[in-house]
Amino acid sequence: MYLTVIAAALANSSVRTLSQLELPLLRDHLLRLDRNSRRDRFQGFMDDSFIERYAEKCTDDGTIVIGYFENGLVRGAAELHPPDSSPGSLPEIAFSVESSVRRRGLGSILFRKLIAEARAKGYQSLRITTGAQNDAMRALARKFGAQLTFRHGESTGTIDVSQPIAGELGTSWVENAASATRAMAGLNRAYWRLLLRIYGFGRTI
Ligand SMILES: CC(C)(COP(=O)(O)OP(=O)(O)OC[C@H]1O[C@@H](n2cnc3c(N)ncnc32)[C@H](O)[C@@H]1OP(=O)(O)O)[C@@H](O)C(=O)NCCC(=O)NCCS
Repeated sequence: MYLTVIAAALANSSVRTLSQLELPLLRDHLLRLDRNSRRDRFQGFMDDSFIERYAEKCTDDGTIVIGYFENGLVRGAAELHPPDSSPGSLPEIAFSVESSVRRRGLGSILFRKLIAEARAKGYQSLRITTGAQNDAMRALARKFGAQLTFRHGESTGTIDVSQPIAGELGTSWVENAASATRAMAGLNRAYWRLLLRIYGFGRTI
C-alpha cells in the first residue's frame, strides 16, 4: 500500500525548470506558504500583494526557477536571480518547499539542479541570505558548502560552484523512492513467477 502511494506520487511528480509561461505557478506556490514560511523565505512577513509583485518581477528580470511539480502544482522552488549591474554583484539564490513535503530531500534536489543551472550559465559563485534563526535553510546551505556569516539578524554566505561540492553527491527521498518502486516491481515479478510454478504453469512473466 505504502509503495503504491509512493509510485502514484512519483508518476505525477517531477523537478524541472519552469518555462516563462509557467512562472505564475511560482506565484501560486509562494502564496500557499504559511505565515512562518513566508517570514523565513523573505526575512519578514509578506502579504499577498508583495508576493504577487515579487513573482511578477521574477518573470521580467531573467530569474531562473526550478520547480518541484506534483500533480501540476509547484510545491517547491529554487530561484536563481541574475546579478545586478553593481560591481562585484553575485547571483542570488533562494529556496522554498511547502510544509507538507519538507524534510524528504526536495530542498537538496532543488539545490543540486540549481547548481547545475548556475554552472551552465557560467556562474562561479552564488550568494544566499537567510534569517539567523532559520535552522532548515542554514542546514541546507551548509550541506552545499556555504560559509555563512551573521550580521544584523541575517546569515549571508557564498557558494563556490566552480568545484564539485560534497552535497551534490548522495540520494534523495525521490531517488530512494524510485529505486524502492523498481525493487517492488522486481519483487512482484518474482512472486508471480513462484506462484505460477507452484500451480504447475511453466510460462514465465
Ligand atoms: C529551507 C527549506 C527549503 C528546506 O527544504 P527541505 O525540502 O525540507 O530540505 P531537505 O529535506 O533537502 O533537507 C536539507 C537538509 O536540511 C536539514 N533540515 C531540514 N529542515 C531542518 C530543520 N528544521 N532543522 C534542522 N535541519 C533541517 C535536513 O536534515 C537536511 O540535512 P541532511 O540531508 O544532512 O539530512 C524549507 O524548510 C523551506 O521552504 N523553508 C521555508 C522557506 C525558507 O526558509 N527559505 C529559505 C530562504 S532562502
